[in-house]
Amino acid sequence: MLERKLLFFGGKGGVGKTTLSSAFALMLADRGRRTLLISTDPAHSLSDILGVKGEGIFRVSDNLFALEIDPYGVVKEYIRNALESIEPAVSPDVFERIREAFHNVQETPGTEESAVIEELSKTVLGHYEDYQHFVIDTAPTGHTLQMLRTVGRVGKWLEELLRKRKSAQRFWYASGREREDRAIEILEDRRRRFNLFSKILFSKETTFIPVLNPERLPIEETDRLVNSLKRMGLSTEVLLVNKILPENTRDEFLLVRKEQERKYMAEIEKRFGDLRLVKIPLRERDVRGVEELRELSVELGRGLGV
Ligand SMILES: Nc1ncnc2c1ncn2[C@@H]1O[C@H](COP(=O)(O)OP(=O)(O)O)[C@@H](O)[C@H]1O
Ligand SMILES: [Mg+2]
Repeated sequence: MLERKLLFFGGKGGVGKTTLSSAFALMLADRGRRTLLISTDPAHSLSDILGVKGEGIFRVSDNLFALEIDPYGVVKEYIRNALESIEPAVSPDVFERIREAFHNVQETPGTEESAVIEELSKTVLGHYEDYQHFVIDTAPTGHTLQMLRTVGRVGKWLEELLRKRKSAQRFWYASGREREDRAIEILEDRRRRFNLFSKILFSKETTFIPVLNPERLPIEETDRLVNSLKRMGLSTEVLLVNKILPENTRDEFLLVRKEQERKYMAEIEKRFGDLRLVKIPLRERDVRGVEELRELSVELGRGLGV
């Protein structure tokens, strides 16, 4: 667990991904490991939970750094860069049509996920030696799976684009118009990066940590998530069951809820028996700031047995 370089936290909205990924990252940092906590969720709450804000990569505590990737901003930047690399290679009217197409792409599902992967791969590979761990707080399940699938898909799309660009280049040379093809250079750079990133994603360096609450909907969603991850060949070993109700209560209301929770816990054990289940108690209050996160991180370390 502690040897993993990339640790993705995923699950349904509200189950505690941001809280637990932050606590986990802090646990690593407190053990002297330089850690970068990255949020890819458009609904950013990392800086709220950490109680620290900053542009780009910002420092949270001694060894803990954080980064919020903004998918909207990234898509704009992504399209701007793509258009810049295409413009010198095509005629103005073709360029105009391509630009229109890109604007439609902006609205297409999957674009933001590609942009997030673009940014995430750049960050991880660009800082690979600077941090011992990258802890990634992802968007709710559907987005995350789409994002991971994108790595493979964009790779294929780039192969195809490169092939086309190369045959176009041969044509230019044949017609005597020698030109340096920056587009090919950019595409090749991107392909190299995606290949490298996907190698890391699907290796022992990466693990995916689903978070859920002992309730019906999160169980169903986690079931789909875990199965998809398995099918994709991504590693999962731990499941965090968050917001466990206190054992010793005389409160009627809580007793009924606790009884329901027992049933759901049994269901979780049945369905995810091959994963290591770590239970995190429901706390009296929301967790905010490094000091409170630290309490949770100690609990997390105990639960994980590390
Ligand atoms: N163990 C816990 N005890 C009490 N409150 C929690 C716990 N885990 C998370 N919360 C609270 O639940 C809410 C949702 O948590 P958050 O980490 O933002 O979820 P997600 O990132 O999955 O949407 C927050 O208000 C957070 O403070
Ligand atoms: Mg969150």
